[in-house]
Amino acid sequence: MCSPPLTTAALTGEHGEAGHGDHEGYDASTLARAITQGIDAGGAELDSTMPRWQMSRQDLGALVDYLLGIEVQRGGEHSGDH
Ligand code: HEM
Repeated sequence: MCSPPLTTAALTGEHGEAGHGDHEGYDASTLARAITQGIDAGGAELDSTMPRWQMSRQDLGALVDYLLGIEVQRGGEHSGDH
């Protein structure tokens, strides 16, 4: 079992890497649910290798904002063809 990419492009579904299955994109609410409850954007349970994180609402909000904003801050590594 390997961990999937957590770039904004991968999380929000704006991607098409070979070998990476289709899944719905994450928004702030489904991403928070994945991190705390291990449920993916489509409602399926993630593998138990993925920890179910417990953190304050404030920390969770900051983490989700960060993960959804990485591409913007990095200056658009993924700004090419997708
Ligand atoms: C704060 C740290 C972490 C965050 C925010 C995070 C977030 C996520 C998210 C959002 C997904 C779903 C991705 C998708 O649906 O494409 C995921 C999946 C996964 N994570 Fe994490 N993760 C973290 C740390 C870890 C750690 C430490 C491990 C392993 C020890 C891990 C193992 C996995 C695995 C194996 C999956 C795939 C599960 C599956 O497809 O059923 N994660 N993670």
